[in-house]
Amino acid sequence: MNAYSTLKGVHDIFPPDVFIWNKIERTAKDLFYIFGYDEIKIPIIESTEIFTRSIGQSTDIVGKEMYTFTDKGGRGITLRPEGTASVARCYVENALYRCTPPQKYYYIGPMFRYERPQKGRLRQFYQIGAECFASSTPETDAEMLFMINEFFNKLQVPELRLEINSIGCKVCRPEYNAALTMFFSQASLCGDCKTRLVKNPLRILDCKVDRCVELRKGAPVITDFLCEPCKTHHEGLRELLKGRGIAFHDNPLIVRGLDYYTRTTFEVTTEHLGAQKAVAAGGRYDNLVEEFGGPATPAIGFAIGMERLAELMRLFDPYPNSPFFYFAALGEQASAIALSLAIRLMDKNISSICADWQIPLKGHMKRANKLNAKYVIMLGADEIQKGKATWKQMSNAAQGEIDVNNVGEFIALSEQWLTRQGSND
Ligand code: HAM
Repeated sequence: MNAYSTLKGVHDIFPPDVFIWNKIERTAKDLFYIFGYDEIKIPIIESTEIFTRSIGQSTDIVGKEMYTFTDKGGRGITLRPEGTASVARCYVENALYRCTPPQKYYYIGPMFRYERPQKGRLRQFYQIGAECFASSTPETDAEMLFMINEFFNKLQVPELRLEINSIGCKVCRPEYNAALTMFFSQASLCGDCKTRLVKNPLRILDCKVDRCVELRKGAPVITDFLCEPCKTHHEGLRELLKGRGIAFHDNPLIVRGLDYYTRTTFEVTTEHLGAQKAVAAGGRYDNLVEEFGGPATPAIGFAIGMERLAELMRLFDPYPNSPFFYFAALGEQASAIALSLAIRLMDKNISSICADWQIPLKGHMKRANKLNAKYVIMLGADEIQKGKATWKQMSNAAQGEIDVNNVGEFIALSEQWLTRQGSND
């Protein structure tokens, strides 16, 4: 391995992916703002205890995956493995509970987990997360899921699946845990699950080891153990989703890998990314603020995995930043005309590329093809004389002439293309 390379599980992000990333961020910021969320900037490093306390000692994140070190002052420091704990800490520390409820925040940034890297599973990855405090109603859960649905619709990400569950509360979960302990007590679980059986049997439902996946068939289902208030909450959410026409699937195995959750849990998954299916995930955490020393404050949130989402979008749109017009100018004079046209088009938000005029036509066509330009505009001495350029549509080789003095004709050409695209959808 070259000494000058990124660490295992850590990626650079560069074009064209960065184009998708920016689109994701812009879409999130615009949409979340409409839903009343403000951006919050939380530190990348925190006291280790922030995470051990909230995420839970028995979780994989705390047990195996945290980047933890002692700083020069002897303090235990951890690179954040997720954002919720920090936002809850910030909420309590800065008494944000005094603001008018509900208080809604979103954040975008890198997270760190020492996981075994594979496709879609990184050691440094980015999340866009959102947290809503001080509302306990199923309407708040439904509103959040509606916002997530809108977000993926705006990005035109197809074939996603929303899975929901309720993992109960302090009142009903102990009984469920007891039932799980009984169910698994004689089972030949993997080493980790043997520990989970003692510390937190719910975690067994999250285990990816084949043997444990097989063993949990027929295990008691949490929804049969919910207390009346949790049941009413969960049914309320299901009805609201149905009422809004948001498709969802009940999945009693969505118990999540973090201990702070109560009641609603959910994941948005895809079949297009291999083993790492979850593109977004979250749930309610009604006790966390109190555990950090704040007033009793219900809360719900979620986070989207940026790398997974960007990869998914790339699958459906491999050329996210392809230009509309590629000007293939042959000669210096043609190049000046092309530049002036391109500037006027860019002014109308129509992406245009002006290539070096010294390149032969064949080279231009190759480049335009690689860039996935929609049209090539060919401009040579003859064309300039006639005041006409030749356009060629790259997808079907259709071609025609266009008036180089009339930028409106170029705009009309781009509009025609967009109309055809729309009618193909
Ligand atoms: P999480 O399920 O651990 O939840 O992560 C949320 C999303 O981050 C996952 O669905 C996935 O898309 C992405 N992700 C997680 N780990 C990795 C990784 N190693 N590599 C690439 N992507 C990854 C949370 O982090 C909670 N804080 C979500 C939340 C917010 N719950 C309430 N509020």
